[in-house]
Amino acid sequence: MTPEYDATEKTDTTAIKFCCAKLYQSDWIQLILGDAFHPGGVALTEHLGVVLNLQPGLRVLDVASGQGTSAIRLAQRFGCMVVGIDYGTEAVNKAMQAASTTGVSHLVSFQQGDSERLPVPNETFDAVICECAFCTFPDKQTAASEFRRVLKPGGRVGLSDLTRRGNVPEDLQGLLARIACIADAQPIDGYIHYLLDAGLTMNKVEQHDDVLADMVQTIHGRLLGAEVLVKLKKIELPGGVDFEQAKAFMRSAAAAVKAHLFGYAVITATKSKMNT
Ligand SMILES: C[S@@+](CC[C@H](N)C(=O)[O-])C[C@H]1O[C@@H](n2cnc3c(N)ncnc32)[C@H](O)[C@@H]1O
Repeated sequence: MTPEYDATEKTDTTAIKFCCAKLYQSDWIQLILGDAFHPGGVALTEHLGVVLNLQPGLRVLDVASGQGTSAIRLAQRFGCMVVGIDYGTEAVNKAMQAASTTGVSHLVSFQQGDSERLPVPNETFDAVICECAFCTFPDKQTAASEFRRVLKPGGRVGLSDLTRRGNVPEDLQGLLARIACIADAQPIDGYIHYLLDAGLTMNKVEQHDDVLADMVQTIHGRLLGAEVLVKLKKIELPGGVDFEQAKAFMRSAAAAVKAHLFGYAVITATKSKMNT
């Protein structure tokens, strides 16, 4: 089960993980984001698979796998086995359901877990991917060390994430911005440091800022469309959505992306073949 969050008892870090999982396992998030919850969508996931040289027979761990789109696509395209782990139980259930309707259900599996304490044994994966989620983790260094722990010697990490240049504007610093991958986005060098400090060796950094601008534009359009449908009572969004807040947030995010304060990068690193 997704760990229950009680604001009176739990720490801020639990609140961040809980709220993030709650947002991305909701029904309406797909309406706004589509199937893949990261800039570049499945095309960028497939690109990551090419960069990591995924092959049939390899074991891949997708950390923060959301509703399972990337794991399923990687299994379909590369014939590799993929285990997805996400903090949200409902996301895991939805991912299993989605996988069951594909021809690759024998290659993919999903389980609930925390990136900072991955529920898998040491040295059991050839590759670890983490798309648009590392930036939300409260303890990024521990998560990076977990990536290294579960990789076989010679295994590779593929991170794709939001990057920032300079400081995050004040109106993009709250919890909503945090779980929307913005508030704690790191400079590219920040991600590199986490991976190096975990004992990994850097391979490649690619900037894909254009896919972020596209995603912001798409979300804005879908948000307006959803608002109209709700007003016309064509759809109901359980729990309701504060459209004014969401639109104001998207305007700030769009302005920051236009000013090149944020970008998107694919970063790969390797675990040494020597056991150190
Ligand atoms: C922006 S979504 C990305 C989902 C997926 N990687 C994709 O690209 O479609 C962020 C995901 O991170 C998950 N998440 C957040 N904190 C986590 C943690 N500590 N451990 C595991 N998953 C976490 C959330 O539940 C959510 O599904």
